[in-house]
Amino acid sequence: CGIVGYIGNNDSKEILLKGLEKLEYRGYDSAGIAVKNENGIHVFKEKGRIADLREIVDLDVTGNIGIGHTRWATHGVPSKVNSHPHQSGSGRFTLVHNGVIENYDLLKREYLTDVSFRSETDTEVVVQLIELFVNEGLEVIDAFKKTLTLLHGSYAIALLDEQNDEIIYVAKNKSPLLVGLGDGFNVVASDAMAMLQVTNQYLELVDKEIVLVTKNGVTIQNLKGETINREPYTAELDASDIEKGTYPHYMLKEIDEQPLVMRKIIQTYQNEQGELTIDSEIINAVSESDRVYIIAAGTSYHAGLVGKQFIESIAKIPVEVHIASEFVYNMPLLTKKPLFIFISQSGETADSRAVLVKVKEMGYRTLTITNVPGSTLSREADYTLLLHAGPEIAVASSKAYTAQLAVLAILADVTAKSQGIPVEFDLIHELGIIANAMEVLCDSKEIIEHISREFLSVTRNAFFIGRGVDYYVGLEGALKLKEISYIQAEGFAGGELKHGTIALIEEGTPVIALATQESVNLSIRGNVKEVVARGANPCIISMNGLNMDEDSFVIPEVHELLTPLISVIPLQLIAYYAALHRDCDVDKPRNLAKSVTVE
Ligand code: G6P
Repeated sequence: CGIVGYIGNNDSKEILLKGLEKLEYRGYDSAGIAVKNENGIHVFKEKGRIADLREIVDLDVTGNIGIGHTRWATHGVPSKVNSHPHQSGSGRFTLVHNGVIENYDLLKREYLTDVSFRSETDTEVVVQLIELFVNEGLEVIDAFKKTLTLLHGSYAIALLDEQNDEIIYVAKNKSPLLVGLGDGFNVVASDAMAMLQVTNQYLELVDKEIVLVTKNGVTIQNLKGETINREPYTAELDASDIEKGTYPHYMLKEIDEQPLVMRKIIQTYQNEQGELTIDSEIINAVSESDRVYIIAAGTSYHAGLVGKQFIESIAKIPVEVHIASEFVYNMPLLTKKPLFIFISQSGETADSRAVLVKVKEMGYRTLTITNVPGSTLSREADYTLLLHAGPEIAVASSKAYTAQLAVLAILADVTAKSQGIPVEFDLIHELGIIANAMEVLCDSKEIIEHISREFLSVTRNAFFIGRGVDYYVGLEGALKLKEISYIQAEGFAGGELKHGTIALIEEGTPVIALATQESVNLSIRGNVKEVVARGANPCIISMNGLNMDEDSFVIPEVHELLTPLISVIPLQLIAYYAALHRDCDVDKPRNLAKSVTVE
């Protein structure tokens, strides 16, 4: 979910709506705004997108103070009544919330048995509690504080009081929230991108602080009531980075940006002598560890699987890769000197953060690899490596994945060299070749669109197979296809398919096979023959030099270890065109959100 707020001299409506449009990638199943003026608080909410909300907002209602929300449903179906803002029984308090209140049911039974609830959400409990404590005689700020101390779980909250024209009450715990500073106005937002239209000056908030945002100032207090001083920072984002330009979809733009991002990474991670370089503290942390534990979710997890190959084969350090949401409850036996690497495009994924918090408590060293400077995972880990991929807006990740691979390869390379381990290739040179190969692939859209049409236009499922790193890329290819085209897709190790899943192969089932590794080229082709014998429609993506006559698409030759950086591009494009042919919403697929800040 995403949150915005505005207090100043202008009408807040358009600022809130524009802010929410920028936050839509965080959730888009319903949205709402509350605008306050001398007649009270006016709430507009609607199921669906911000565009749907715009249709029902009364343009005649203006107000200099307002809050807004775009939702990714957790408790309660997406509906108008479950959408935010939520109001207290009397209507005095209005609140937006991102996160999950784990003990909401308990709080309801303990404090609010007399209250009739309008929605099925955990959030409504919060606003009702505030009203209850105010009715019991507490000042609003104290009622807010008391409520926060009762909440278990995660929250980013912005609250309006009908009887106060001066303040937006704000607090956060585990969920991201920033305050943006302006001249004669201030704003609240889940991320800086949302409010770049009005300011690039931001204050970071720390968990469990109470923040009073007024037109001319911001007061931060801890729960004891002590005032905290904090310097703002400048968000180094260019508003044009977050526009689509002439592209029909962000995803296509982001796929096309990959060669550029690659060159940016090569440049940023190079020193004046033209050598790859990373902060020595980070390199020491990696080389002193006896095992690296990579923790991630979704596409970032798939990048971690490839990263394991890089770190083990180049830097010779053992690596385990874990799904964040599993690791936190199901921790493996750890070695004596582990290093935890968190891979996260957004730097906000709550599942990954839960692991970070836990392993920090245990005293282990942590490194975050993220695209978003200042993100929660970046702030809270000991070290950060940035992806420099520029904002990624499409929900399905593309350029962040290849940037993650490049940064992991650089990390492996610099670590190896620091330990005197010979690296048998020149990574800068090879990444340059990768950037060129990416360009070739981005220029092959017509052929790939044709492949996508031929293989995926009528199917209900598809399989991606490969061996070694090709298997990991297949997992990512399948995820891309599922995410945006809703075709049921599975990535499989080529040799494993015959042990069960081959039962699903029918006449015409598309099987997309990756063949970029010389050592397994013949065996993966053997697996293709097995599925063809059972009626499958095979699409073979091979690397130049390993290709054979029947191959559907040949990618340029690059260093064998680094093929995932380019073999994923046809898969991204195949998914993109499959979604397009099926009239799916490419950038905002159903049920998903880009940054999932709940566990
Ligand atoms: C969400 C997105 C995925 C993404 C995953 C991890 O589920 O829909 O596309 O890969 O989160 O996100 P992160 O920001 O941690 O890389």
